Amino acid sequence: MFRRHWKPGFGSVSVDELVFIRDLIERHRPARFLEIGMASGLSTGFIARFLDAAGGKAITSIDHDDTFFGDATKPNGFLFDEIYPGGKLDAKLLKFKTALDADALGGPWDMAFIDANHAHPWPTLDTLAIAPHMTAPRCVIHHDLDLYMRQDVMFGIGPKYLYDQFPHDKRHASTANRGNIFCLDLGIPREELEDIAIRSLKLPWSLRTPLPGSQISGIRSVLQTHYAPRLLEHFDRCLSTMNLADRFRSGL
Ligand SMILES: C[S@@+](CC[C@H](N)C(=O)[O-])C[C@H]1O[C@@H](n2cnc3c(N)ncnc32)[C@H](O)[C@@H]1O
Repeated sequence: MFRRHWKPGFGSVSVDELVFIRDLIERHRPARFLEIGMASGLSTGFIARFLDAAGGKAITSIDHDDTFFGDATKPNGFLFDEIYPGGKLDAKLLKFKTALDADALGGPWDMAFIDANHAHPWPTLDTLAIAPHMTAPRCVIHHDLDLYMRQDVMFGIGPKYLYDQFPHDKRHASTANRGNIFCLDLGIPREELEDIAIRSLKLPWSLRTPLPGSQISGIRSVLQTHYAPRLLEHFDRCLSTMNLADRFRSGL
């Protein structure tokens, strides 16, 4: 089924990465699953099948736009119904949403998969935005740990920076796709997640374009609502020096 739907340039997970996700779903049996970064809907469709088989109830997948980047004639999520036809899960495929909208997405969720903007600090910010809406087992899977090694100009180092800040017993990297996918255990005190985020946010940001004002206010609102003031203060300090198109990376 994967071979029937996958095409080069689709930017999707690989078969062995899907097996990693399936095994986690079988182990933790989440009722409700959240995906950030829908694209074609390939991963969404397979996750829905795994959830359904493991007694799950609902899947929500979001994307910040509705044009599939691998084929501009197609909307995001176009593969979902082909891969998971007539399924019984409560499935919501929401366009024009980011993790910053998490408060209004109808959580909580037991497990999540983040595969959206891989430029640092987005994977850290996405994790912070959804963490308050995660219930046990609070397992968050991230894609593209190895992306920075595959890019000559490495924008996509966000997952790697985040992974490196987590304690060894709260992170697990798969060997799938040459070590390109991992899961985090967010079953830690809020203060510990703040410490991790503070270390991660301090690492050099690798944005293609600076965060616009609308996103900055969304991020600040998440941090203000769910975390201690020290995290927002730290974010503001990092923002003042690192919210730049990276001259080294962009060649500007
Ligand atoms: C690598 S693709 C996802 C692939 C998909 N998970 C799969 O395996 O089939 C990344 C997607 O994230 C979306 N995206 C980028 N930045 C985002 C953000 N901040 N929030 C939500 N979606 C975002 C892009 O539009 C793109 O469709």
